[in-house]
Amino acid sequence: MKVIVTGAAGQLGKDVLLELEKKNHQAIGTDREQLDITIEENVLAFINEIKPDVILHCAAYTNVDAAEENEDLAYQINALGTKNLAKAAKQAGAKLMYISTDYVFDGTATEPYEVDEPTKPLGAYGRTKLAGEEFVREYLEQFFIVRTAWVFGIYGQNFVKTMLRLGKERGEVGVVHDQIGSPTYTVDLAKFMVELMGTEKYGVYHATNSGVCSWYEFAVEIFKQAGLNVKVNPLTTEQFPRPAARPKYSVLSKKKIEEQGLTPLRDWKAALAAYLNEAK
Ligand SMILES: NC(=O)c1ccc[n+]([C@@H]2O[C@H](COP(=O)([O-])OP(=O)(O)OC[C@H]3O[C@@H](n4cnc5c(N)ncnc54)[C@H](OP(=O)(O)O)[C@@H]3O)[C@@H](O)[C@H]2O)c1
Repeated sequence: MKVIVTGAAGQLGKDVLLELEKKNHQAIGTDREQLDITIEENVLAFINEIKPDVILHCAAYTNVDAAEENEDLAYQINALGTKNLAKAAKQAGAKLMYISTDYVFDGTATEPYEVDEPTKPLGAYGRTKLAGEEFVREYLEQFFIVRTAWVFGIYGQNFVKTMLRLGKERGEVGVVHDQIGSPTYTVDLAKFMVELMGTEKYGVYHATNSGVCSWYEFAVEIFKQAGLNVKVNPLTTEQFPRPAARPKYSVLSKKKIEEQGLTPLRDWKAALAAYLNEAK
């Protein structure tokens, strides 16, 4: 298949490109330089010229804290950029897969979020990503929306890298223990995305690695697997204030993946081991 990947220089986009190449698809990666998704006429012209079978839309404004001060810019990219791609996908008859986030939920649940549960973002980033989802639904009858969470991959800035750096520098770190979720390795998410795009199983999916942990437990496991002797101190959210509120519980149910006969992502601890091996 001929596949355009937006955000191809980003953490997820790079691994998506590698996975497409592995599976012998014709992959065309675009970043802001080649295609700024906020410029509608450029997006329409580019997609119309390439006429892809699929668009894997990974580009986004992803700085959750900065989005609180820059909601307009985040909206331009996450909502209007996605609208441009949805319009272009419709014109070209291409399948669109939009990568979304657990931040569309407020985190007050006590059970994993199903794909059709009501959304209620806590902050600007979540609001703008949700607005992107709404444009996808408005412009396209058939689409893929894939919500993910706690993403880590070797091509990006992420929690694993931050922990390893701070752990080595300080020998001791403080990490919140009262926010619960599921980490996601970009390599595993990319595999899932490429499997899904080859199907007609449209709709909303939740895709993270399996298993559940707090950020504290994630950090402890990182140091254990990396063989580093670092003291990890559990903190409450109140002890570690951030500009943007985070959902306390953002575990996403992967029931739909199983129901549709798709391949679930492996356990997060196995994914972390694979990441650390890849990063060596
Ligand atoms: N990271 C997470 O923990 C997480 C969690 C849940 C969902 N997600 C979603 O997963 C997807 C991939 O995230 P990621 O971690 O790979 O993020 P990332 O590393 O920040 O990559 C995003 C890419 O989008 C590009 N981009 C931004 N504005 C653009 C524009 N106007 N036109 C074209 N490209 C633009 C960025 O380029 P610049 O560097 O030039 O800005 C960057 O290369 C996003 O949709 C994100 O919302 C991520």
